[in-house]
Amino acid sequence: MALRQIRTIGDDILNKKCKEIKEMTPRIKELIDDMFETLYDANGVGLAAPQVGVLKRLVIIDCGDDPHVLINPRIVETSGEQTGNEGCLSVPGKFGTVTRPNYVKVVFLDENMQPAELEGTELLARAICHELDHLDGNLYVDKVEGDLYENEEEE
Ligand code: NI
Repeated sequence: MALRQIRTIGDDILNKKCKEIKEMTPRIKELIDDMFETLYDANGVGLAAPQVGVLKRLVIIDCGDDPHVLINPRIVETSGEQTGNEGCLSVPGKFGTVTRPNYVKVVFLDENMQPAELEGTELLARAICHELDHLDGNLYVDKVEGDLYENEEEE
């Protein structure tokens, strides 16, 4: 396992659309391991492959419950609304207010390329939406209500 460099805002790769993963390979397994190491090192809750420079439809999420690996994920159901703080490892030291669904259901392939689904509310729902946006080249900063701020307290 190795830490990967996290790309930051201004890097064109963060605005590109990612490609589907067709098969699991040793390289992708290594990428997943490295992404978890990188995520935990940065104290984040989620990381998408383009954030480490790989244009593949892969995200990992760990909100403190379980580590989730989502390959080719697709949101199939949403409900409700939540408005709150959001940050991104690719936009270091900044936060912003974003409205997201309060519930999402996502279908994806797991690490064995088997179909799976995950339901999330609150932080997990927010993380799923945020990470999936990365796969289409979208950053949360374009959805922020008001200005970005430097300190989470300053809301
Ligand atoms: Ni992000």
